[in-house]
Amino acid sequence: KYWNVLGVNIPDIFTNDPALLADYIVYFDTRADDVFVVSYPKSGTTWVQEIVWQIYNEGAISSEKQIYRFPFLEDTACNMSEHMQIDFKALPSPRLIKSHLTYSTTPRSANKDDQCKYIYVARNPKDVAVSYFHFTEHWKKEGNGYNGPWEFFSKLFIEGNVGWNFWNDHVLGWWKQKDDPNVLFLKYEDLHKDLPSNVRRIANFLNKTLSDELINRIAEQCSFKGMKKNEISYKFESEEKTSPYLRKGVVGGWKSYFTPELNERFEKEVMEKIKGTGLEFDFEAY
Ligand code: A3P
Repeated sequence: KYWNVLGVNIPDIFTNDPALLADYIVYFDTRADDVFVVSYPKSGTTWVQEIVWQIYNEGAISSEKQIYRFPFLEDTACNMSEHMQIDFKALPSPRLIKSHLTYSTTPRSANKDDQCKYIYVARNPKDVAVSYFHFTEHWKKEGNGYNGPWEFFSKLFIEGNVGWNFWNDHVLGWWKQKDDPNVLFLKYEDLHKDLPSNVRRIANFLNKTLSDELINRIAEQCSFKGMKKNEISYKFESEEKTSPYLRKGVVGGWKSYFTPELNERFEKEVMEKIKGTGLEFDFEAY
């Protein structure tokens, strides 16, 4: 079940007051040193968030309390557990904020010289759809989410009837801004191919000079295996023992889920829409 908040499907577990949530997003004051890690769900948000955290903290590993999801609000009576509710205004700078908002709904400063930074991460949509399907199992447990088979979920995904709507609209909205000096556009598959050079790329974007030793250590700690060791930090709900944000962590897992018919439909209705934009993805492991 979703609320339509500023034209975006937001799962109703985020708030029971969509109008207040919309106001909160619209009137949210960014700070020049904020860093937003933005993505369509299941594209590697947690991964990039952890890399950014470690870049800012000399390789220290984050803890559960340090992943700030926007817009989860302390001041709307939403039914998320307490640890998910955040008073963003009270957070010290620099705030590292994770969000799935579209480009047009993401808060920005009205002052051009005062813009914060946005790191967007995109992933090939076939793996996104599979990852998203598995993620819905968490909401299923709460009796609040999607409860059907993959075959149906994949159709909902293609038709944009999932949280945060159409994958292609989301990704293209941010892709158009990729040359803005305060936007870094990353791809999940590139991080897979070469994590150390992407850690360096992110650090450069954030104006942080890190030694090779530290870059390599962060890459090691942020590998799938490395993050699994700390999986308790990346929970959705406080009572979980494992993280729904670390499942398989591979490129190409979609192949075990896509029939030739589904693949054809996906190519026509999802991939066709990004043709000619210059945005391309790897669908196979490197
Ligand atoms: P899978 O479900 O395909 O395994 P998000 O953080 O945006 O919700 O994305 C979650 C996806 O990113 C999951 O994909 C998860 O396994 C993957 N992921 C998280 N950390 C990763 C890492 N260090 N390396 C590779 N993939 C990672």
